[in-house]
Amino acid sequence: MTHPLHPRIQLSKESIFSHMSRLAVQHGAINLGQGFPSNPPPAFLQEAARRAIGTVDQYTPPIGLPRLREAVAEDLGAAPEDVVITAGGTEALHALAESLYGPGDEVVMLEPYFDVYIPQARIAGAEPVMVPMRLTDRWEVDLPALERAITVRTQALLLTNPYNPTGSVFSRTEAEQIVALARQHDLWIISDEVYDELYFGPPPIRLRELAPERVFTVGSAGKRLEATGWRIGWIITPPGLAPQVAGMRQWSSFCSAAPLQAAVAEALPIARREGFYAQLRESYGRRKDLLEQGLRAMGLQTFAPAGSYFLTALLPELDAETLVREGGVAIIPGSAFYLQNPAPRGLVRFAFCKTEAEIEQALERLEGYLKKVHS
Ligand SMILES: Cc1ncc(COP(=O)(O)O)c(C=O)c1O
Repeated sequence: MTHPLHPRIQLSKESIFSHMSRLAVQHGAINLGQGFPSNPPPAFLQEAARRAIGTVDQYTPPIGLPRLREAVAEDLGAAPEDVVITAGGTEALHALAESLYGPGDEVVMLEPYFDVYIPQARIAGAEPVMVPMRLTDRWEVDLPALERAITVRTQALLLTNPYNPTGSVFSRTEAEQIVALARQHDLWIISDEVYDELYFGPPPIRLRELAPERVFTVGSAGKRLEATGWRIGWIITPPGLAPQVAGMRQWSSFCSAAPLQAAVAEALPIARREGFYAQLRESYGRRKDLLEQGLRAMGLQTFAPAGSYFLTALLPELDAETLVREGGVAIIPGSAFYLQNPAPRGLVRFAFCKTEAEIEQALERLEGYLKKVHS
């Protein structure tokens, strides 16, 4: 067979995250690149899954297992009818791209961006339009630039809060101004809030609460419950739209793993009741401080994250590919998060969802490597 695959296949290339993880394994490097936790999911989640296997094993409705829709709704103060269960935040974002825009449309996003946003927009046939965030001693939304990026073709703003890779969280003013812009131009907002429980200051503002009529919220049990491989996520839609969005996702995975949906339904109220998220924040806060202090002690500039498990820093004289091969530490180069604008010079992203021992060892290796490069 010599017939080529569709040109769209160019979107199938390996992501930088898989690439760096593969190099990390190959070179025995500590992986502070890809964002998956080193520790196992909580016992209450694992036990719930064991109980569910053998009792909840067949297809669920594409919109999700009713008890999980109810648990998500209860946790987030939404109506169960507005909840769609998906295979992780990734499928939630894909279902929304398919549901909200198509050829000739534009979707406005901030840069640096999370990698799936671009291929998903393009698979839907729409054009991503990137607005760079301002980097001073912190990351800020450039609101005038955001407004200038909106055209008659714009269908949606795609935003992340807390933000990967910057770790930033919208201030109330930023959130209100973004929502006002969306109202003025009658745009949908996709608010990717998969790190909603992972913050180090005040809780992030939920954009849905400011504009329930136009905000689609994306969430992830994988991120909340340290089970990224389980692939359970959700969308909260504006009132009345959940059946249509669920109708789109039925053509991809049809439904998410039934026993894992049941397990997450059981775990969400336990996590809330037993203060699991507060423990998680405390534990990640320690690891964030360890990494941040270690990098600063080497004289590097870091940008304190207010949420997520990512930290950005400037490492101007270092190339991430060389570092993983020769220094034994995997990180993500900032250029991976930029499509239309240049990345700030030397920008890199560290993931600190790893053990303290791994972070300490990575810091030691990095320090040793930097000394070698400078000597
Ligand atoms: C901002 C953001 N959105 C969505 C996702 C995907 O979440 P999930 O693992 O639930 O598909 C990630 C994963 O890293 C992410 O960082």
